[in-house]
Parts: sequence; C-alpha cells; structure tokens
Amino acid sequence: MRIETVLENRINALQDSTVKEAMRYSLMAGGKRIRPNLLYTIVKGYGLDEACADDFACAIEMIHTYSLIHDDLPAMDNDDLRRGRPTCHKQFDEATAILAGDGLLTYAFQVASHANCPSDKIVRCIQVLSEMAGSNGMVLGQDLDMHENLHSDWEYVRKVHKYKTGCLLSAPLMMGAILASKEASVVEEWHQIGIALGLAFQIQDDILDVELTSEEFGKSNSDEKNDKKTSVSLLTKAKAEKLMMELYDSVEQKVTSFDDFQASEFIEMIEKLKNRRK
Ligand code: IPE
Ligand code: IPE
Ligand code: MG
Ligand code: MG
Ligand code: MG
Repeated sequence: MRIETVLENRINALQDSTVKEAMRYSLMAGGKRIRPNLLYTIVKGYGLDEACADDFACAIEMIHTYSLIHDDLPAMDNDDLRRGRPTCHKQFDEATAILAGDGLLTYAFQVASHANCPSDKIVRCIQVLSEMAGSNGMVLGQDLDMHENLHSDWEYVRKVHKYKTGCLLSAPLMMGAILASKEASVVEEWHQIGIALGLAFQIQDDILDVELTSEEFGKSNSDEKNDKKTSVSLLTKAKAEKLMMELYDSVEQKVTSFDDFQASEFIEMIEKLKNRRK
C-alpha cells in the first residue's frame, strides 16, 4: 500500500529515541488506513495524481494514531490491545505513550507543512486538519465521550460519534476537495458526507465491539466493561444496524450525485466497509 511506504519514510526521518520507537510501534502496526485511503480516493476521483496527497495522508493517519494511543490510556478507556498488539502504554509505559501521542500530533503538522503543493492549499488543508482534530473536533468528541455517563439519550451519543469519529473522517474528504481546487461550498458538502460516514462507522464499531472477541477485533472490546452508552445499548443492535446501513447508503447516493467526481473507487471502499469485521 502506498501509505505504508510514505509513513515509513516520514518516521525514519526522525532522530532515534524512545519516543520515536513508540511512535513507530503504534503507527506501523497495520491499521486499516481508512483515512489516508479516503484521501487518495478523492484526489483520484477528481482526476489528480495521488502523489499530491502523500503528506496529508500521512498527517491524518498520524493524528488518528495519536488519538488511539491516548484513547487507550488508563485515564480514558484503559485498554490493553490495539491493532493486534499490546497498546502503546502496555508495550512501553504511560509517559512514553503520552509523548508518542504528542509526537505524532505535532509531527503531523510538520509533515503537512512541507507538502509538495501550492502554499495556499497547504494552509487550507492545515486549517481543516487542525479544526477537525482539535477541541472543536475529535478532541471535543473525546471530551463529550468522557462525560457521557451523565447522559442516557441517543441524541447525546450521536453528537459524541459526530465529533470523536466523524471529524477525522471528514478531514481527508475535505482535504481531497481542497487539493482538487473545489470551492468552499463543495468542501462543506464533503464535510457533511464525512460526518454521515463517521456516524455509520462508529455505530458499526459499537456493533463489532459486542459481536467480536478482542482477538478477532484486534483491539480490546471494552464498551461493556467501561459501561459505555453506545448505539447498541441505546438503540438495540437491530436498530443500530439499520441506521448504519441507511447512513452508508446516503453517503453512496450523495457521492454519486457529483457530476465532476468519478465515484466508483469510493463506492467500492464503502461497500468493503459495510462488510468489515475488524
Ligand atoms: C478506530 O478506528 C477508532 C474508531 C473511530 C472507531 P479504525 O477502525 O479506523 O482503526 P484502525 O486505524 O484500523 O486501527
Ligand atoms: C473512538 O472511540 C476513539 C477515537 C476517536 C480515538 P472508541 O473508544 O470506541 O474507539 P476504539 O473502540 O477504542 O477503537
Ligand atoms: Mg474511547
Ligand atoms: Mg477506545
Ligand atoms: Mg469502540
């Protein structure tokens, strides 16, 4: 996969240290690479060479990986298994895992700032990345998730899903549209597609959390242990599955409605996601 080589190159450029080893350990552990692959699919669908997206693809995967390292910490979900391996704080220690997350988050922006494309596009992509990742985006979602025990309604959990998962799925779609020189209204349409996709994806994550063993899932399935309110616990599994499929279908419909976007590869990705088992 293209993204594996690009990530390997960028991580190799760092000076040797414990934190570098921990960053590499979590980053190169064989995640599904959905976010970078979404970005590549968008730029190709708009007829561009995927090379222009390499640094932004790396940046989004680094930010996503940092979010997982911190999500697994004892202070958050307190999980032991991630991407089929011990979590970063189990393999190293908590301080190193915190620093590996800090390192990946910061390096993501360094890598993005050096992208081989016009500087106005770099600035717009960095704006999108920071907004979608930060305290109006994924970080807000994780904050809402930590306080979800005070709420027991689906509307609240839907909002948690929107921010904690939707934002990091919107970012690659929006950056793809920016790289393809699309106007702001089109970038906003991709933002909304990403939110719907993220909601479907997180509902599915909640379903798989109850259906699979941690060995099959490749990560701790800890929602029940942590007494999490999820789409499954609040809606029932059957209703959650129905909503997930409706959301995936709405994403496919919307994406095929653009007349300047070749959607076939994107649709293929969504079809694979619908059937994912990890
Ligand atoms: C896990 O994301 C966190 C959620 C948003 C559910 P992924 O399922 O994309 O995890 P990796 O990257 O494949 O490990
Ligand atoms: C998504 O929520 C986490 C992030 C946005 C980092 P979860 O806590 O459900 O993710 P997993 O199940 O640990 O991957
Ligand atoms: Mg969590
Ligand atoms: Mg978790
Ligand atoms: Mg989960």
